Amino acid sequence: MRSFQLVIVSSVVLFLASCQQDSASPKVAGEAEPQTSSAVTNESTLEETGSAVTAAGSGDGEALALFTRRILPILQAKKPSSCTECHLSGVELADYIQPDQEKTFTSLMNAGLIDVESPDDSKILKFINRRPDKPSLITDKVRQQELEAFQGWIRAAAKDPDLIAAKTSDPIGPQIPDEVIRHARKDRVLASFIENVWTEVGRCAACHSPDQNQKQVKENGEQVSWITLRDPQTTLQHMVDAGIINTDDPLESMLLTKPTMQVDHGGGQKVVVGDRTYKQFRRFIDDYASVVHGSYRTVADIPAESDELSIVTDIWLKITDVPAKYDQMLLQADLYRWTGNEWSEHRVATSDRLVFGKGNLWQHSLSLTAPRGSTWAKEMNSRRLPGGKYLLKLYIDQTGKLQKDFRVELGDGDSTGQVEVESQWPAGYGKMTAVRFPAN
Ligand code: HEC
Ligand code: HEC
Repeated sequence: MRSFQLVIVSSVVLFLASCQQDSASPKVAGEAEPQTSSAVTNESTLEETGSAVTAAGSGDGEALALFTRRILPILQAKKPSSCTECHLSGVELADYIQPDQEKTFTSLMNAGLIDVESPDDSKILKFINRRPDKPSLITDKVRQQELEAFQGWIRAAAKDPDLIAAKTSDPIGPQIPDEVIRHARKDRVLASFIENVWTEVGRCAACHSPDQNQKQVKENGEQVSWITLRDPQTTLQHMVDAGIINTDDPLESMLLTKPTMQVDHGGGQKVVVGDRTYKQFRRFIDDYASVVHGSYRTVADIPAESDELSIVTDIWLKITDVPAKYDQMLLQADLYRWTGNEWSEHRVATSDRLVFGKGNLWQHSLSLTAPRGSTWAKEMNSRRLPGGKYLLKLYIDQTGKLQKDFRVELGDGDSTGQVEVESQWPAGYGKMTAVRFPAN
């Protein structure tokens, strides 16, 4: 997992810079005054301490000139800083600057971000110098300017005895917990996209992936190709640009409204509000919108990740003789595996879809499921279910409660029976495992 995340960090490309405005908004008011007052303070300190006026005086002038010319503009800038190439929110270079030079210096020093003995080793420079393997050219230029500005100023300031002796210091840097900063990192966000959305798009690929959808493109236009093959990063970027994921109004995201038929969808109903896919899409979209808008302030604000991982397969399950009264209700089928002496504690596969009552039929592909961190979570990436004996448990949402609250899970109260199944679970629509609906 660790190395997987590192690979993602390295492939991070600038996306969503436009959404950084909130956190990048300038916080400065009356920028000229503080400099004047700080210069005055410095002079009076000099007289009091009686230190070498000439040497310190010239050092002070140089640092202050650099601060005014190169650091303050970063504080006032409307453009996002280079930090946003990896941090979707929560971190801005402006968080490390105060309108007053002395305060900025002392605060950074007290926060351990400036190394007075060895200015070039200052931690703040390391933050600025962090660059992705494939940085955007524009951000790289911004980063270079930021680095030169801070390096030049810190070198000059570290030689200034008055600045070093100064006492006024404030908390500096982002005032939110590290966990919140971590959660808003682009590599983390991408990992969540892969877990919650990318693993599901196999269900949409026949019509939305450019290697399979020539006919749909001809009939509907290029916008139906919203999947970029083997590239979740580019896919996410496109989805945001095209409004398929809408961070201002998450529920209007076409990723939700199209496959649920809340608006017309050329592919028909693929997802039901409250089913597992819908839950996963919502988990990502809601969280992503909050991250982009910098809404999380405390660790408690961050939503818990799911305990269960899933992966779509091409293994099909068919249930026959389903009573017609269940027509158009969501049926959830969970499979438990026989371990030799008992049924597995957790479901190893699941599937949910509406019942086709007129045909007394329900059929759908299986998703393999596993508790996060379990051995099966790794093994299931083969997308194969070992042959053998399984227990199939069925649940039907007869009251439409998932429509009312998509977070609800079907449970014992929704059970419509269980039945043992023996199968080799071959993949392919033509090789479905068929089971009779259990008579209660
Ligand atoms: C190339 C991507 C990248 C860029 C650009 C980047 N960071 Fe980070 N940042 C990271 C990563 C990765 C971590 C986690 C580091 C770790 O866990 O060791 C992190 C962690 C942090 C943290 C959390 C505290 C810590 O010590 O780990 C802060 C604060 C931070 N970065 C600030 C900044 C600032 C300020 C900038 C811009 C000047 C910036 N970052 C630019 C990738 C980046
Ligand atoms: C059988 C083919 C088919 C399948 C499968 C399918 N769709 Fe579609 N989808 C279409 C067609 C055709 C359009 C274009 C017409 C329209 O906008 O409804 C479309 C449009 C869309 C759009 C709008 C794209 C845009 O930028 O305008 C989204 C989003 C979408 N589908 C989501 C999904 C999701 C999510 C799935 C899988 C869970 C899915 N679709 C499965 C046929 C399909």
